[in-house]
Amino acid sequence: MAKDKTIYTCTACGGTSAKWLGKCPHCEEWNTLIESVEGGAGQSKNRYSGAKSLAPASAVSLLSDIEAQDVDRTPTGIEELDRVLGGGIVPAGVVLIGGDPGIGKSTLLLQALDAIQRRGGHTLYVTGEESGAQVAMRARRLGLDRSGVSVLAETQLEKIIATLETQSPSIAVIDSIQTVYSELLSSAPGSVSQVRECAAHLTRLAKTSAISIVLVGHVTKEGALAGPRVLEHMVDTVLYFEGETHSSFRLVRAIKNRFGAVNEIGVFAMTERGLKGVSNPSAIFLSQHAEPVAGSCVMVTLEGSRPLLVEIQALVDQSGPSPRRLSVGLDRDRLAMLLAVLHRHAGVACMDQDVFVNAVGGVRISEPAADLAVLLSIQSSLRGRALPKGFIAFGEIGLAGEVRPAPRGQDRLKEAAKLGFSVAVIPKANAPKKPIEGLTVHAVDRVDEAMNLVREGLF
Ligand code: TYD
Ligand code: MG
Repeated sequence: MAKDKTIYTCTACGGTSAKWLGKCPHCEEWNTLIESVEGGAGQSKNRYSGAKSLAPASAVSLLSDIEAQDVDRTPTGIEELDRVLGGGIVPAGVVLIGGDPGIGKSTLLLQALDAIQRRGGHTLYVTGEESGAQVAMRARRLGLDRSGVSVLAETQLEKIIATLETQSPSIAVIDSIQTVYSELLSSAPGSVSQVRECAAHLTRLAKTSAISIVLVGHVTKEGALAGPRVLEHMVDTVLYFEGETHSSFRLVRAIKNRFGAVNEIGVFAMTERGLKGVSNPSAIFLSQHAEPVAGSCVMVTLEGSRPLLVEIQALVDQSGPSPRRLSVGLDRDRLAMLLAVLHRHAGVACMDQDVFVNAVGGVRISEPAADLAVLLSIQSSLRGRALPKGFIAFGEIGLAGEVRPAPRGQDRLKEAAKLGFSVAVIPKANAPKKPIEGLTVHAVDRVDEAMNLVREGLF
């Protein structure tokens, strides 16, 4: 067989070059050439026999003539994982699970494969990070004695593909994609070219052989690591693990799903015997102070189909020459914007103060409905006065100082009332039509209205 030739493909225009150059000779962009194999992932010709493009070419037909079939899913048997997957793993589906090292990816997947195997599925766990003995030790620790999961300790792509073809499991886990390398490329395992090329071949194999493949990818805190991010467009489902390693709670969030809803979350607790699903998670992100403290405000966030109560904490303190704005679990740029709105539209100034905000429990909140709670906690810390007991708030804040509604406000309020919260400050458009038992609702239009209401204790 003729030796595959290494070429360099431009990530901007798709043009190729026989040698590496700083500037693409076709589109003249800088630093866009990456190593690839002629006929490999970046090329139209496929190297592996039988492999077609990701969506095989077929005759043109009318959308109305194509029969839409419900996808058939294999539940993993782990309820919280099935929830984020949209019901289970789809045949030929490729799932990417990303997260910090040590957060529990290998643990969860080993538990899932074991559960599938026990229900008659055929699974393969490919480990590139640990030896077979280490995986067996983990299985024992998880109480998965006499597990029927097959394990392959291998990192070379060509050997992994050959094993997948001969074993043809229904579900295979590759732990992790950063350790897999193709001998056809000279770059190091974990580099963008290797990760992209290997993932593309595995994805194609999944599509042509109907094996469901789960790729594990490590992401660093900065999220910048060559790896998972470059694969997001290639795979069908992207799940990310969140949570602090020192807290026992872990969230698995779907950020892309061709077969289900996005932003659905699964909640787990890391225990002595692995990850256990938390089926009623709404109150786990509250820090349970006996008495209210200054700088804390509880919000109701809606993650997927379930409302979650999350405590937002703020610390406002006299700063040095350049005031700092730091946030954990919330967007820092949005914090800077909110502080400007607070000053301009509510007259609360933090110019000479450091401002730190944190979403308790390592949960990441991306929805703007957190805005009102962020500003109320900042005002509370600045004044050194706690918000009343049983207080919640939510609502998005606009640059003009208006308080905008949050989706599904009624569900949020009902969940708060169910957990014993008694006072709510929310956007006017979310005001309930019928009173909610046990909950006094104050609906506001503008940010200054909300700040005054709380400052003057008008409840
Ligand atoms: P791991 O699943 O190996 O994380 P990842 O694959 O994402 O790098 O490890 C998760 C952590 O959880 C590890 O530090 C040890 C701990 N752990 C438990 O607390 N209980 C358990 O039953 C297991 C297996 C691990
Ligand atoms: Mg691991």
